[in-house]
Amino acid sequence: MILPAGSPCARRSLCAIVVLACVLLPSRLRSQEKPSAHPWMNTSLSPDERAALVLKEMTIDEKITLLHGTGMVGLSPMSPLSVHSNGGAGYVPGIPRLDIPAIQMSDAAYGVRSSGENGRYSTALPANVASAASWDIAAAYEYGALIGRELRAQGYNMTLGGGINLTREPRNGRTFEYLGEDPVLAGKMVGSVMKGLQAQHVIGDIKHYALNDQESGRNAVNITIDRRAARESDLLAFEIGVHESNAGAVMCSYNRVGGDYACENKYLLTDLLKKEWNFPGFVVSDWQATHSTAKASAAGLDHEEPGEIFYAETMKKAVASGTVPMAEFDEHVRRILRSMFACGVVDDPPVKSVVDVMGGLAVAQQIAEQSIVLLKNKQSILPLDAAKIHNIAVIGPHADVGMISGGGSAQVDPPGGNAIMPPGKGQTHWQDHIWFPTSPLRAIRAKAPSANVQFDSGADPASAAALAKSADVAVVFAYEWESEGMDLDNLTLPENQDALIAQVAAANPRTVVVLETGTAVTMPWADQVGGILEAWYAGSRGADAVANVLFGDVTPSAKLPMTFPRSVADLPHPEIVKPPRESTGGDWKRIAAGLPAFQVTYDEGVKVGYKWYDAENKPVLFPFGYGLSYTSYSYSNLAVARGKDGVQVSFTVTNTGVRSGAEIAEVYASLPAAAGEPPKRLVGWSKIPLNGGESKAASVTVDPNYLSIFNVDTNAWQLIPGDYTILVGGSSQSLPLKNSINLQ
Ligand code: BGC
Repeated sequence: MILPAGSPCARRSLCAIVVLACVLLPSRLRSQEKPSAHPWMNTSLSPDERAALVLKEMTIDEKITLLHGTGMVGLSPMSPLSVHSNGGAGYVPGIPRLDIPAIQMSDAAYGVRSSGENGRYSTALPANVASAASWDIAAAYEYGALIGRELRAQGYNMTLGGGINLTREPRNGRTFEYLGEDPVLAGKMVGSVMKGLQAQHVIGDIKHYALNDQESGRNAVNITIDRRAARESDLLAFEIGVHESNAGAVMCSYNRVGGDYACENKYLLTDLLKKEWNFPGFVVSDWQATHSTAKASAAGLDHEEPGEIFYAETMKKAVASGTVPMAEFDEHVRRILRSMFACGVVDDPPVKSVVDVMGGLAVAQQIAEQSIVLLKNKQSILPLDAAKIHNIAVIGPHADVGMISGGGSAQVDPPGGNAIMPPGKGQTHWQDHIWFPTSPLRAIRAKAPSANVQFDSGADPASAAALAKSADVAVVFAYEWESEGMDLDNLTLPENQDALIAQVAAANPRTVVVLETGTAVTMPWADQVGGILEAWYAGSRGADAVANVLFGDVTPSAKLPMTFPRSVADLPHPEIVKPPRESTGGDWKRIAAGLPAFQVTYDEGVKVGYKWYDAENKPVLFPFGYGLSYTSYSYSNLAVARGKDGVQVSFTVTNTGVRSGAEIAEVYASLPAAAGEPPKRLVGWSKIPLNGGESKAASVTVDPNYLSIFNVDTNAWQLIPGDYTILVGGSSQSLPLKNSINLQ
């Protein structure tokens, strides 16, 4: 702190007190005490008014500063200013003269990234797809709020989480980072995550806009999809997410859509996002997804990351020559400033502090417990009764030490490093398989202290089967690792785990499989085992959550946010389209200049996930929205009526068992035949906690847009007049209640 000569602090004792107070007082109070001369620091003005006031005072160089990052090794040249970065993926210097703080961005999909290399700590929540399996809007808010708190504690004020690309292609290596295959579920859940995040005064970001549904050749691929199908599928998820949350930023993706790169695609960025959806925030490019200055600027890209190839000196020249009009240039700056004010990062800067480790673990465990899907429970093999079981075989790769996590820019670093490495030696590297130190073996031993619990890694299936044979129950932990930057070749468990499970189940049919996967997997052994749990990438406290479900301390309530097909042959595209060699990457200059495009056509259109299997009459392994419980539910009393805000769907759900639980009641609609839509679509849901024997009335208001089709000719949502069938039940394939309503 520099004290002006002649200030009251010239008297040393007073000075010391003031300095101490400044150090000890939270910055929120300090900023309240220090009346700023700047009119935009008046918090009673709107974010738009405040942004406009700052903009008037800025020089061209100050404006340029806000429009780009400061570099990243290997992706773009480094600016000397990057030394002030907080260690996250993006850093935008502030403008101290104007009291505009820096933007410190960090990836934070399921927790804050890079804590290892920065000497910090982050909680790993269950993967995003797991949180979608909870269908729990309040839990999604807590998910975002926890990440927001940890971002701030680590000195960041912007997240790069918020992945929402639909699971159109379940082999996409980032499926674990996204929120499943349905646009309404994904959009609503991301909206709530963003609200939780932004309530902590962190700028939220929804990504990757749009149609970046496979990783293979992502910097080159050109996606072709019919406009109506796009609006009703992937783009609808973004539309809902943006509307629900007021996210401060949207990240445009690497791929091309309809011939133009997403980050220079006027239809996506301006016509749709900014004009039709009234998105007031700024568009940030994915890292190295900017490919031009004038074209990108005119299309609506506001901010280049990670460096300054197109939006610094080149932008300055383009503005000077008029290639980029001054008003357009100012608009980029204004949007960034507006989000900074709207999200509170100017008035309430982050203060580095100790992460609430214990609080984070508790939240991670609660969300994991709500995310674990019970897929099979033959003869009620689960929950296990510790009092009656004497021998338990715990089998599976690394199930003695940890549980797997998802990789790439979403990777959260485990405390102590990779659990399968010697302590302190497990530094994480890009695309390593990272196991969190949450030990299934230990958690199961804690639940059954008087049982003999033995472990076998499964490396030799015969030895695992022999152990299983001698046990009362065998619990096999099977995994599939995924990451950004790759796609899976198929949906088969790696490392011969199908054979391992089959052999163990042959030795002891009282076998329960716990899956640690980020996407659907095929299960050739499904009929042979007694129980199956999908635990996803379960986060920092995954093992405790799984043990609580296995032993019945928690009654499972989650439902699948994606279809589990029987085979990859049933997918819309049995083979993923891989790029030719010239479109696979190269140095940053080649990528910036634009790689030769290769074509992927989403000819299944709107038929993503269950809509595909329904329309094609293909049986599935486990349907969308499916999940069992330790109790059972029945549905009755459906009433469907026109309401003030949409169609009002009311019904009763009864817990017909004795245990208390929570039922996710799903509401689907079949549109009139004239609409030409797949057989049904999800239009709402309600998660209802119920004690044993209890009945509750539930009510879901269906947004009229969710019943509409997108009319390309009028560029508007359109309700097709006719009879709509409303279906209600516990999974997309178990819908006992049905009623019609005529809508005009
Ligand atoms: C990813 C983004 C991420 C960015 C910054 C890119 O490779 O696609 O999701 O936010 O890197 O790390």
